[in-house]
Amino acid sequence: MSSLSKTRLVSPIRGLLTLESIPGVLSLLAGKPAQQTFPITSISINVRSQESPSEEITLKIDSQGGQISEALQYGPTNGHKDLVTWLLTLQKHYHGRSEDPSWMLSVGAGSQDLLYKAFLALSNPGDSVLIEAPVYAGVIPLFVSSGVNMVENWPVGKPYPKYLYTVPYGCNPTGATTNLQRRKEVLALARKYKFSSSRYILCLDDPYYLLYYGPEPRPTSYFALEAQDGHGTGVVIRFDSLSKVVSSGLRIGFVSGPAPILRAMSLHTASANLQPSSLAQSVTYALLQHWGISGLDAHTKYVSQFYRERRDVFEAALKKHLDGLVEYTSPVSGMFLWFKLLIPPPAHDLNGEGDSSELIKTKALENGVLALPGTVFFANGQRSAYVRASFSMLDDEQTDEALRRLGEVVRQARGEI
Ligand SMILES: Cc1ncc(COP(=O)(O)O)c(C=O)c1O
Repeated sequence: MSSLSKTRLVSPIRGLLTLESIPGVLSLLAGKPAQQTFPITSISINVRSQESPSEEITLKIDSQGGQISEALQYGPTNGHKDLVTWLLTLQKHYHGRSEDPSWMLSVGAGSQDLLYKAFLALSNPGDSVLIEAPVYAGVIPLFVSSGVNMVENWPVGKPYPKYLYTVPYGCNPTGATTNLQRRKEVLALARKYKFSSSRYILCLDDPYYLLYYGPEPRPTSYFALEAQDGHGTGVVIRFDSLSKVVSSGLRIGFVSGPAPILRAMSLHTASANLQPSSLAQSVTYALLQHWGISGLDAHTKYVSQFYRERRDVFEAALKKHLDGLVEYTSPVSGMFLWFKLLIPPPAHDLNGEGDSSELIKTKALENGVLALPGTVFFANGQRSAYVRASFSMLDDEQTDEALRRLGEVVRQARGEI
Protein backbone atom coordinates (compact mmCIF):
# COMPACT_ATOMS: atom_id res chain seq x y z
CA MET A 1 0.00 0.00 0.00
CA SER A 2 1.15 3.52 -0.71
CA SER A 3 1.81 6.02 2.09
CA LEU A 4 -1.11 8.03 0.74
CA SER A 5 -3.46 5.08 1.27
CA LYS A 6 -2.16 4.40 4.74
CA THR A 7 -2.87 7.95 5.84
CA ARG A 8 -6.25 8.36 4.16
CA LEU A 9 -9.01 8.84 6.71
CA VAL A 10 -12.40 7.16 6.58
CA SER A 11 -15.07 9.72 5.67
CA PRO A 12 -16.98 10.49 8.89
CA ILE A 13 -20.28 10.41 6.98
CA ARG A 14 -19.73 7.74 4.31
CA GLY A 15 -18.18 5.43 6.91
CA LEU A 16 -21.52 5.35 8.76
CA LEU A 17 -23.91 5.20 5.80
CA THR A 18 -24.45 1.43 6.00
CA LEU A 19 -25.94 1.91 9.49
CA GLU A 20 -28.93 3.61 7.86
CA SER A 21 -30.18 0.22 6.71
CA ILE A 22 -30.52 -1.12 10.29
CA PRO A 23 -34.28 -1.69 10.75
CA GLY A 24 -35.90 0.92 12.95
CA VAL A 25 -33.02 3.44 12.77
CA LEU A 26 -34.09 7.02 12.06
CA SER A 27 -31.26 8.70 10.21
CA LEU A 28 -30.29 12.34 10.67
CA LEU A 29 -26.87 11.45 9.30
CA ALA A 30 -26.14 12.51 5.76
CA GLY A 31 -26.94 15.65 3.81
CA LYS A 32 -29.15 13.68 1.45
CA PRO A 33 -31.66 15.90 -0.32
CA ALA A 34 -35.36 15.05 0.13
CA GLN A 35 -36.43 12.97 -2.87
CA GLN A 36 -39.86 14.57 -3.09
CA THR A 37 -38.15 17.78 -4.19
CA PHE A 38 -36.51 16.11 -7.22
CA PRO A 39 -38.19 17.06 -10.51
CA ILE A 40 -37.66 13.69 -12.26
CA THR A 41 -40.37 11.15 -11.45
CA SER A 42 -39.46 8.19 -13.66
CA ILE A 43 -37.07 7.20 -16.42
CA SER A 44 -37.85 5.13 -19.49
CA ILE A 45 -35.06 3.44 -21.40
CA ASN A 46 -35.70 2.04 -24.85
CA VAL A 47 -33.52 -0.90 -25.80
CA ARG A 48 -33.25 -2.94 -28.98
CA SER A 49 -35.07 -6.25 -28.68
CA GLN A 50 -32.66 -9.18 -28.96
CA GLU A 51 -35.31 -11.38 -30.55
CA SER A 52 -36.32 -8.88 -33.20
CA PRO A 53 -33.77 -6.04 -33.54
CA SER A 54 -36.16 -3.68 -35.37
CA GLU A 55 -38.35 -3.55 -32.24
CA GLU A 56 -37.75 -1.62 -29.04
CA ILE A 57 -38.50 -2.68 -25.49
CA THR A 58 -39.11 -0.04 -22.82
CA LEU A 59 -37.54 -0.51 -19.38
CA LYS A 60 -38.86 1.70 -16.59
CA ILE A 61 -37.08 3.07 -13.58
CA ASP A 62 -39.92 4.36 -11.42
CA SER A 63 -41.17 4.44 -7.85
CA GLN A 64 -41.83 0.69 -7.79
CA GLY A 65 -39.42 -0.79 -5.25
CA GLY A 66 -37.85 2.64 -4.74
CA GLN A 67 -35.81 2.35 -7.93
CA ILE A 68 -36.19 5.98 -8.94
CA SER A 69 -35.05 7.21 -5.51
CA GLU A 70 -32.02 4.98 -5.75
CA ALA A 71 -31.25 6.32 -9.25
CA LEU A 72 -31.47 9.97 -8.17
CA GLN A 73 -30.07 9.82 -4.64
CA TYR A 74 -26.57 9.39 -3.19
CA GLY A 75 -25.60 5.74 -2.89
CA PRO A 76 -22.84 3.45 -1.61
CA THR A 77 -19.22 4.43 -2.30
CA ASN A 78 -18.31 1.19 -4.04
CA GLY A 79 -21.49 0.89 -6.06
CA HIS A 80 -25.23 0.28 -6.12
CA LYS A 81 -25.88 -2.91 -4.11
CA ASP A 82 -27.98 -4.69 -6.75
CA LEU A 83 -25.52 -3.86 -9.51
CA VAL A 84 -22.57 -5.09 -7.43
CA THR A 85 -24.45 -8.35 -6.75
CA TRP A 86 -25.22 -8.75 -10.46
CA LEU A 87 -21.58 -8.15 -11.40
CA LEU A 88 -20.39 -10.64 -8.78
CA THR A 89 -22.58 -13.24 -10.52
CA LEU A 90 -20.98 -12.22 -13.79
CA GLN A 91 -17.47 -12.78 -12.40
CA LYS A 92 -18.58 -16.25 -11.33
CA HIS A 93 -19.93 -16.90 -14.82
CA TYR A 94 -16.85 -15.72 -16.75
CA HIS A 95 -14.06 -16.48 -14.28
CA GLY A 96 -15.50 -19.11 -11.94
CA ARG A 97 -14.86 -16.83 -8.95
CA SER A 98 -17.35 -17.32 -6.13
CA GLU A 99 -17.76 -14.64 -3.52
CA ASP A 100 -15.43 -14.90 -0.54
CA PRO A 101 -14.17 -12.33 1.97
CA SER A 102 -10.68 -12.17 0.45
CA TRP A 103 -11.83 -10.23 -2.60
CA MET A 104 -14.29 -7.46 -3.39
CA LEU A 105 -15.90 -5.82 -6.38
CA SER A 106 -16.40 -2.06 -6.75
CA VAL A 107 -17.99 0.02 -9.47
CA GLY A 108 -16.28 3.14 -10.81
CA ALA A 109 -16.69 5.86 -13.43
CA GLY A 110 -15.16 3.66 -16.15
CA SER A 111 -12.09 1.53 -15.71
CA GLN A 112 -9.83 4.57 -16.11
CA ASP A 113 -11.16 5.98 -12.82
CA LEU A 114 -10.43 2.70 -11.07
CA LEU A 115 -6.98 2.29 -12.61
CA TYR A 116 -6.01 5.73 -11.34
CA LYS A 117 -7.26 4.92 -7.85
CA ALA A 118 -5.52 1.54 -7.82
CA PHE A 119 -2.19 3.05 -8.88
CA LEU A 120 -2.47 5.65 -6.12
CA ALA A 121 -3.32 2.93 -3.62
CA LEU A 122 -0.35 0.78 -4.61
CA SER A 123 2.58 3.00 -5.39
CA ASN A 124 4.63 5.78 -3.86
CA PRO A 125 6.66 8.28 -5.87
CA GLY A 126 9.93 6.57 -6.76
CA ASP A 127 8.39 3.06 -6.94
CA SER A 128 8.58 1.11 -10.17
CA VAL A 129 5.86 -0.54 -12.19
CA LEU A 130 6.51 -3.14 -14.85
CA ILE A 131 4.73 -2.24 -18.06
CA GLU A 132 4.45 -3.74 -21.50
CA ALA A 133 6.09 -1.87 -24.37
CA PRO A 134 4.20 -0.46 -26.15
CA VAL A 135 1.69 0.35 -23.41
CA TYR A 136 -1.83 1.87 -23.31
CA ALA A 137 -1.07 5.58 -23.71
CA GLY A 138 -3.79 6.50 -21.17
CA VAL A 139 -1.72 5.26 -18.22
CA ILE A 140 1.58 6.99 -19.10
CA PRO A 141 0.48 10.42 -17.73
CA LEU A 142 -0.82 8.75 -14.53
CA PHE A 143 2.53 7.14 -13.81
CA VAL A 144 4.54 10.19 -14.84
CA SER A 145 2.57 12.63 -12.70
CA SER A 146 2.67 10.34 -9.65
CA GLY A 147 6.44 9.95 -9.96
CA VAL A 148 6.30 6.20 -10.65
CA ASN A 149 9.07 4.73 -12.83
CA MET A 150 7.86 2.66 -15.74
CA VAL A 151 10.18 -0.24 -16.50
CA GLU A 152 10.00 -2.67 -19.38
CA ASN A 153 12.58 -5.08 -17.93
CA TRP A 154 14.64 -5.29 -14.78
CA PRO A 155 18.08 -3.82 -15.15
CA VAL A 156 20.38 -5.03 -12.37
CA GLY A 157 20.38 -2.58 -9.49
CA LYS A 158 16.94 -1.08 -10.15
CA PRO A 159 14.40 -1.62 -7.37
CA TYR A 160 11.96 -4.40 -8.20
CA PRO A 161 8.64 -3.21 -9.62
CA LYS A 162 5.70 -3.38 -7.24
CA TYR A 163 3.23 -4.56 -9.83
CA LEU A 164 2.72 -5.38 -13.47
CA TYR A 165 0.29 -3.47 -15.66
CA THR A 166 -0.96 -5.26 -18.77
CA VAL A 167 -3.93 -5.39 -21.15
CA PRO A 168 -4.41 -9.15 -21.65
CA TYR A 169 -6.99 -9.36 -24.48
CA GLY A 170 -7.01 -7.25 -27.66
CA CYS A 171 -4.34 -5.01 -26.17
CA ASN A 172 -4.42 -1.29 -26.74
CA PRO A 173 -2.38 -0.54 -28.87
CA THR A 174 -1.01 -3.86 -30.22
CA GLY A 175 -4.26 -5.81 -30.53
CA ALA A 176 -2.38 -8.75 -28.94
CA THR A 177 -4.11 -11.36 -26.79
CA THR A 178 -1.77 -13.08 -24.33
CA ASN A 179 -1.78 -16.85 -24.84
CA LEU A 180 -2.53 -19.28 -22.02
CA GLN A 181 1.06 -20.49 -21.65
CA ARG A 182 2.34 -16.94 -21.24
CA ARG A 183 -0.39 -16.19 -18.68
CA LYS A 184 0.66 -19.20 -16.62
CA GLU A 185 4.30 -18.15 -16.78
CA VAL A 186 3.54 -14.57 -15.73
CA LEU A 187 1.40 -15.81 -12.84
CA ALA A 188 4.15 -18.20 -11.73
CA LEU A 189 6.71 -15.37 -11.78
CA ALA A 190 4.37 -13.14 -9.79
CA ARG A 191 4.07 -15.87 -7.17
CA LYS A 192 7.78 -16.63 -7.12
CA TYR A 193 8.92 -13.04 -6.63
CA LYS A 194 7.30 -10.83 -4.05
CA PHE A 195 9.62 -7.96 -4.84
CA SER A 196 9.22 -4.79 -2.91
CA SER A 197 5.76 -5.58 -1.55
CA SER A 198 4.40 -8.46 0.52
CA ARG A 199 2.80 -9.76 -2.63
CA TYR A 200 3.31 -9.06 -6.27
CA ILE A 201 0.22 -7.67 -7.95
CA LEU A 202 -0.85 -8.18 -11.54
CA CYS A 203 -3.04 -5.29 -12.74
CA LEU A 204 -5.14 -6.64 -15.57
CA ASP A 205 -6.74 -3.81 -17.49
CA ASP A 206 -9.31 -5.73 -19.49
CA PRO A 207 -11.86 -3.59 -21.39
CA TYR A 208 -11.60 -5.86 -24.47
CA TYR A 209 -12.28 -9.21 -22.75
CA LEU A 210 -15.85 -9.28 -24.06
CA LEU A 211 -14.73 -8.40 -27.60
CA TYR A 212 -12.97 -11.71 -28.25
CA TYR A 213 -13.57 -13.14 -31.73
CA GLY A 214 -10.65 -15.56 -32.25
CA PRO A 215 -11.06 -18.98 -33.87
CA GLU A 216 -9.89 -20.77 -30.68
CA PRO A 217 -11.79 -20.52 -27.38
CA ARG A 218 -10.91 -17.36 -25.41
CA PRO A 219 -7.80 -18.05 -23.25
CA THR A 220 -8.57 -18.38 -19.54
CA SER A 221 -8.29 -15.06 -17.67
CA TYR A 222 -5.62 -14.42 -15.04
CA PHE A 223 -8.44 -13.90 -12.53
CA ALA A 224 -9.70 -17.44 -13.21
CA LEU A 225 -6.21 -18.96 -13.37
CA GLU A 226 -5.09 -17.69 -9.98
CA ALA A 227 -8.04 -19.49 -8.39
CA GLN A 228 -7.49 -22.73 -10.33
CA ASP A 229 -3.89 -23.70 -9.71
CA GLY A 230 -4.11 -24.29 -5.98
CA HIS A 231 -1.43 -21.71 -5.04
CA GLY A 232 -3.84 -19.18 -3.55
CA THR A 233 -5.45 -15.97 -4.75
CA GLY A 234 -4.70 -12.33 -3.99
CA VAL A 235 -2.24 -11.73 -6.83
CA VAL A 236 -4.66 -10.42 -9.46
CA ILE A 237 -6.59 -7.17 -9.58
CA ARG A 238 -8.88 -7.09 -12.57
CA PHE A 239 -10.41 -4.03 -14.27
CA ASP A 240 -13.54 -4.53 -16.36
CA SER A 241 -15.40 -1.98 -18.41
CA LEU A 242 -18.83 -1.76 -20.00
CA SER A 243 -17.58 1.06 -22.25
CA LYS A 244 -16.88 -1.10 -25.27
CA VAL A 245 -20.02 -3.25 -25.16
CA VAL A 246 -22.80 -1.17 -23.59
CA SER A 247 -21.89 2.54 -23.72
CA SER A 248 -18.70 4.50 -23.20
CA GLY A 249 -20.70 7.58 -22.13
CA LEU A 250 -22.39 5.80 -19.23
CA ARG A 251 -18.95 5.57 -17.56
CA ILE A 252 -19.36 2.22 -15.86
CA GLY A 253 -16.36 0.07 -15.04
CA PHE A 254 -15.71 -2.36 -12.20
CA VAL A 255 -12.71 -3.69 -10.39
CA SER A 256 -12.33 -7.09 -8.73
CA GLY A 257 -9.44 -7.94 -6.46
CA PRO A 258 -7.89 -8.19 -3.00
CA ALA A 259 -10.20 -6.60 -0.41
CA PRO A 260 -7.51 -4.42 1.28
CA ILE A 261 -6.62 -2.77 -2.04
CA LEU A 262 -10.26 -2.19 -2.96
CA ARG A 263 -11.00 -0.76 0.47
CA ALA A 264 -8.13 1.72 -0.02
CA MET A 265 -9.57 2.62 -3.41
CA SER A 266 -13.02 3.20 -1.86
CA LEU A 267 -11.50 5.59 0.68
CA HIS A 268 -10.08 7.53 -2.25
CA THR A 269 -13.48 7.55 -3.97
CA ALA A 270 -15.14 8.82 -0.78
CA SER A 271 -12.75 11.81 -0.87
CA ALA A 272 -12.55 12.39 -4.61
CA ASN A 273 -16.06 11.91 -6.05
CA LEU A 274 -18.09 10.22 -3.26
CA GLN A 275 -19.36 7.39 -5.52
CA PRO A 276 -20.01 6.38 -9.13
CA SER A 277 -23.11 8.02 -10.65
CA SER A 278 -26.31 6.49 -9.21
CA LEU A 279 -28.19 7.25 -12.41
CA ALA A 280 -25.64 5.55 -14.67
CA GLN A 281 -25.64 2.53 -12.37
CA SER A 282 -29.44 2.33 -12.31
CA VAL A 283 -29.65 2.47 -16.11
CA THR A 284 -26.95 -0.21 -16.36
CA TYR A 285 -28.67 -2.40 -13.80
CA ALA A 286 -32.06 -2.09 -15.53
CA LEU A 287 -30.46 -3.25 -18.78
CA LEU A 288 -28.44 -6.09 -17.25
CA GLN A 289 -31.38 -7.32 -15.22
CA HIS A 290 -33.55 -7.28 -18.34
CA TRP A 291 -30.92 -9.23 -20.34
CA GLY A 292 -29.76 -11.66 -17.69
CA ILE A 293 -26.35 -13.24 -18.22
CA SER A 294 -27.56 -15.04 -21.35
CA GLY A 295 -28.72 -11.72 -22.84
CA LEU A 296 -25.36 -10.10 -22.12
CA ASP A 297 -23.63 -13.11 -23.70
CA ALA A 298 -25.82 -12.79 -26.80
CA HIS A 299 -25.11 -9.07 -27.02
CA THR A 300 -21.33 -9.47 -26.64
CA LYS A 301 -21.40 -12.19 -29.29
CA TYR A 302 -23.07 -9.72 -31.65
CA VAL A 303 -20.59 -6.93 -30.79
CA SER A 304 -17.51 -9.11 -31.13
CA GLN A 305 -18.77 -10.46 -34.46
CA PHE A 306 -19.26 -6.85 -35.59
CA TYR A 307 -15.61 -6.03 -34.81
CA ARG A 308 -14.36 -9.28 -36.38
CA GLU A 309 -16.05 -8.20 -39.62
CA ARG A 310 -14.56 -4.70 -39.34
CA ARG A 311 -11.11 -6.23 -38.77
CA ASP A 312 -11.54 -8.34 -41.93
CA VAL A 313 -12.56 -5.28 -43.97
CA PHE A 314 -9.59 -3.34 -42.59
CA GLU A 315 -7.13 -6.12 -43.41
CA ALA A 316 -8.57 -6.47 -46.93
CA ALA A 317 -8.06 -2.72 -47.46
CA LEU A 318 -4.50 -2.95 -46.10
CA LYS A 319 -3.80 -5.70 -48.62
CA LYS A 320 -5.34 -3.67 -51.43
CA HIS A 321 -3.61 -0.35 -50.71
CA LEU A 322 -0.50 -1.14 -48.66
CA ASP A 323 0.52 -4.60 -49.81
CA GLY A 324 4.24 -5.05 -49.15
CA LEU A 325 4.37 -1.68 -47.34
CA VAL A 326 3.26 -2.85 -43.87
CA GLU A 327 3.74 -5.74 -41.46
CA TYR A 328 1.20 -6.76 -38.83
CA THR A 329 -0.32 -9.58 -36.79
CA SER A 330 -4.04 -10.06 -37.09
CA PRO A 331 -5.84 -9.32 -33.77
CA VAL A 332 -8.33 -11.81 -32.27
CA SER A 333 -9.95 -9.36 -29.87
CA GLY A 334 -10.62 -5.65 -29.56
CA MET A 335 -10.64 -2.86 -32.11
CA PHE A 336 -7.01 -2.08 -32.88
CA LEU A 337 -4.61 -3.02 -35.61
CA TRP A 338 -0.96 -2.23 -34.95
CA PHE A 339 1.05 -2.19 -38.12
CA LYS A 340 4.62 -1.37 -39.00
CA LEU A 341 5.25 0.96 -41.92
CA LEU A 342 8.09 -0.22 -44.10
CA ILE A 343 9.54 3.24 -44.60
CA PRO A 344 13.21 4.27 -44.77
CA PRO A 345 15.01 5.12 -41.50
CA PRO A 346 15.96 8.76 -40.88
CA ALA A 347 19.21 9.94 -42.51
CA HIS A 348 21.06 10.19 -39.15
CA ASP A 349 20.39 6.51 -38.29
CA LEU A 350 20.46 4.48 -41.47
CA ASN A 351 20.64 1.16 -39.60
CA GLY A 352 17.65 2.00 -37.38
CA GLU A 353 13.91 1.64 -37.91
CA GLY A 354 11.74 4.10 -39.73
CA ASP A 355 9.65 6.56 -37.72
CA SER A 356 5.94 6.86 -38.40
CA SER A 357 5.56 10.02 -36.34
CA GLU A 358 6.14 12.73 -38.92
CA LEU A 359 4.34 10.80 -41.64
CA ILE A 360 1.24 10.17 -39.53
CA LYS A 361 1.06 13.52 -37.74
CA THR A 362 1.54 15.72 -40.78
CA LYS A 363 1.53 14.02 -44.21
CA ALA A 364 -1.28 11.56 -43.51
CA LEU A 365 -3.37 14.27 -41.86
CA GLU A 366 -2.82 16.59 -44.83
CA ASN A 367 -4.02 13.72 -47.02
CA GLY A 368 -7.17 13.40 -44.86
CA VAL A 369 -6.48 10.41 -42.63
CA LEU A 370 -5.95 10.37 -38.89
CA ALA A 371 -4.26 7.63 -36.82
CA LEU A 372 -1.77 7.40 -33.95
CA PRO A 373 1.99 7.07 -34.42
CA GLY A 374 3.58 4.22 -32.44
CA THR A 375 5.86 6.52 -30.46
CA VAL A 376 3.00 7.79 -28.23
CA PHE A 377 2.65 4.29 -26.75
CA PHE A 378 6.21 4.11 -25.46
CA ALA A 379 6.94 5.42 -21.99
CA ASN A 380 10.33 6.72 -23.15
CA GLY A 381 8.87 8.24 -26.33
CA GLN A 382 11.19 6.11 -28.47
CA ARG A 383 11.05 6.20 -32.24
CA SER A 384 8.65 3.69 -33.77
CA ALA A 385 7.70 2.68 -37.29
CA TYR A 386 4.34 1.39 -36.00
CA VAL A 387 0.90 2.93 -36.32
CA ARG A 388 -2.21 2.21 -34.26
CA ALA A 389 -5.41 2.21 -36.22
CA SER A 390 -8.79 1.81 -34.59
CA PHE A 391 -11.11 -0.02 -36.99
CA SER A 392 -14.23 0.42 -34.86
CA MET A 393 -15.84 3.51 -36.36
CA LEU A 394 -15.43 3.62 -40.15
CA ASP A 395 -17.73 1.70 -42.47
CA ASP A 396 -16.37 -0.47 -45.30
CA GLU A 397 -16.18 2.33 -47.86
CA GLN A 398 -14.57 4.80 -45.46
CA THR A 399 -12.00 2.19 -44.37
CA ASP A 400 -11.05 1.53 -47.99
CA GLU A 401 -10.67 5.26 -48.64
CA ALA A 402 -8.67 5.89 -45.45
CA LEU A 403 -6.16 3.20 -46.37
CA ARG A 404 -5.98 4.37 -49.97
CA ARG A 405 -4.98 7.82 -48.63
CA LEU A 406 -2.46 6.30 -46.24
CA GLY A 407 -1.04 4.12 -49.03
CA GLU A 408 -0.36 7.24 -51.11
CA VAL A 409 1.56 8.89 -48.29
CA VAL A 410 3.62 5.77 -47.56
CA ARG A 411 4.55 5.40 -51.25
CA GLN A 412 5.62 9.05 -51.30
CA ALA A 413 7.81 8.46 -48.21
CA ARG A 414 9.43 5.50 -49.98
CA GLY A 415 10.08 7.70 -53.01
CA GLU A 416 7.85 5.54 -55.21
CA ILE A 417 5.54 8.34 -56.34
C1 LIG B 1 -6.61 -0.38 -22.26
C2 LIG B 1 -7.65 0.59 -21.83
N1 LIG B 1 -7.85 0.78 -20.52
C3 LIG B 1 -8.79 1.62 -20.07
C4 LIG B 1 -9.58 2.34 -20.95
C5 LIG B 1 -10.61 3.27 -20.39
O1 LIG B 1 -11.86 2.66 -20.43
P1 LIG B 1 -13.13 3.22 -19.64
O2 LIG B 1 -14.02 3.83 -20.66
O3 LIG B 1 -13.74 2.01 -19.00
O4 LIG B 1 -12.65 4.20 -18.63
C6 LIG B 1 -9.40 2.18 -22.33
C7 LIG B 1 -10.21 2.96 -23.29
O5 LIG B 1 -9.97 3.02 -24.44
C8 LIG B 1 -8.42 1.27 -22.78
O6 LIG B 1 -8.19 1.05 -24.07
